Amino acid sequence: SFLMRFASMHRLTTVLRGASVASFRRIFSSSQPHSNLTKSFAAPLLIASAGFGLASSGVFADNGWIEVDAFGVDELEDGEMKAVPTGQGKTKILIARVDGKFYAVSNSCTHAGAPMDTGLLVGARVLCPWHNAAFSVITGAAIDMPARDALDSYPVEVRGGRVVVRIPPNAEQRQAIEPAMAKPDSAKDPRSFLIVGAGPAAQVAAETLRAEGYAGGITMVTADAAAPYDRTRLSKVLGVPLDKVALRPAEWYAQHGVEVLTGKEVKLLDTQSKVAILTDGGQIRFDKVLVATGSTPRTLKVPGANLRNVHTLRTVADSAAIQASASGGKSAVVVGASFIGIEAASALKDALKVERVIVVGMEAVPMERVLGRDVGAVVQKMGEDKGVEFLMRRTVARFEGGPDGAVRKVVLDNGVELAA
Ligand SMILES: Cc1cc2nc3c(=O)[nH]c(=O)nc-3n(C[C@H](O)[C@H](O)[C@H](O)COP(=O)(O)OP(=O)(O)OC[C@H]3O[C@@H](n4cnc5c(N)ncnc54)[C@H](O)[C@@H]3O)c2cc1C
Ligand code: FES
Repeated sequence: SFLMRFASMHRLTTVLRGASVASFRRIFSSSQPHSNLTKSFAAPLLIASAGFGLASSGVFADNGWIEVDAFGVDELEDGEMKAVPTGQGKTKILIARVDGKFYAVSNSCTHAGAPMDTGLLVGARVLCPWHNAAFSVITGAAIDMPARDALDSYPVEVRGGRVVVRIPPNAEQRQAIEPAMAKPDSAKDPRSFLIVGAGPAAQVAAETLRAEGYAGGITMVTADAAAPYDRTRLSKVLGVPLDKVALRPAEWYAQHGVEVLTGKEVKLLDTQSKVAILTDGGQIRFDKVLVATGSTPRTLKVPGANLRNVHTLRTVADSAAIQASASGGKSAVVVGASFIGIEAASALKDALKVERVIVVGMEAVPMERVLGRDVGAVVQKMGEDKGVEFLMRRTVARFEGGPDGAVRKVVLDNGVELAA
């Protein structure tokens, strides 16, 4: 989605659509969420990072810092980037050239470790190839979700026609850099800020309040059973455990004075008396409130939509329920042929080993509305190569259940019946 937003802004539609297909090739090429892009497909789209005959050597300099003699200045054009080994274990640094200047940052995404050199450089932003986080190559700062912490940024010098980068001796062990944040102090600032919702928007809001110096109280209240987590992973790995997707570890909230109230739904905000009323009768007082309640899945208004084993996919609990009911099963039908449906179909086939996976979609090809017909056809072919079946230009008329109340059949608008 990030890439497509950029496509309309920068007229890079062809390249970015290609890159999006590369991402989907990754989805279909492995059940692993973090497998790398398939080389043969990605190579024309992405800036190559290796095999340039790099003259990389570690030379010890002052303070234990290491100088990496990366390459000659002519080896990188403006708007290009490449990864260079540092000589410290497998650590690589990413060097980018923007408006004639060279910048160096760590090459491992702070979200889940993707090699940033296989992403895209757009102006001074580098976009992660796995989940589209964006970082500034100038400062390393994280500027778009799902990453929150910065990349390490290293000084670069052009010396004798060579690009030389200085890195600290422990670059391999260095953790992601969290932005500086104000310490919570209710004596200094007695205000209370309520955030309704605990998704990424809520998380970024809480972090931004602290990063901009707010020391008062912050309370997040969520109808979900957990503190903020990365919803985007749920369709890539069905049944992924909560601790693998948490946006921040539990200690983070205590350390930064952010109270998270889970399993609590706000039914009314009384802005006159500045109180949130919960469905369980509880009340939360606030001075300021942010509503960050996200969205809910669009359900089908057809007979049988409430049968057991008819799922929507939005929460960790949904993802676990799909895993439990589909794992090793005979037949699963995915209704909806865009990002989440295609990702879920791939996970059902690859990781959960469902014998028959059928995607039902309203367009002519999957993802037609977001990627167009040509790219959608490529996505369909990739899925078919994996054994996923597609029934396009179709919709669901009804679901039929068995005596146990669980779904047995999906009946399409043309009368075709699919076992599920
Ligand atoms: C399966 C799946 C895969 C996805 N994959 C991608 C992807 O690959 N790339 C991408 O860019 N996007 C993806 N998305 C979309 C992305 O997850 C959302 O855009 C993002 O989560 C929106 O964040 P948010 O904070 O606005 O809202 P949400 O994440 O929806 O969070 C809303 C929060 O509000 C709470 N809430 C709602 N109503 C109330 C209430 N009345 N009282 C209290 N709490 C309430 C909810 O419990 C929740 O905590 C995916 C979404 C899903 C479901
Ligand atoms: S690994 Fe980079 S955004 Fe997820």
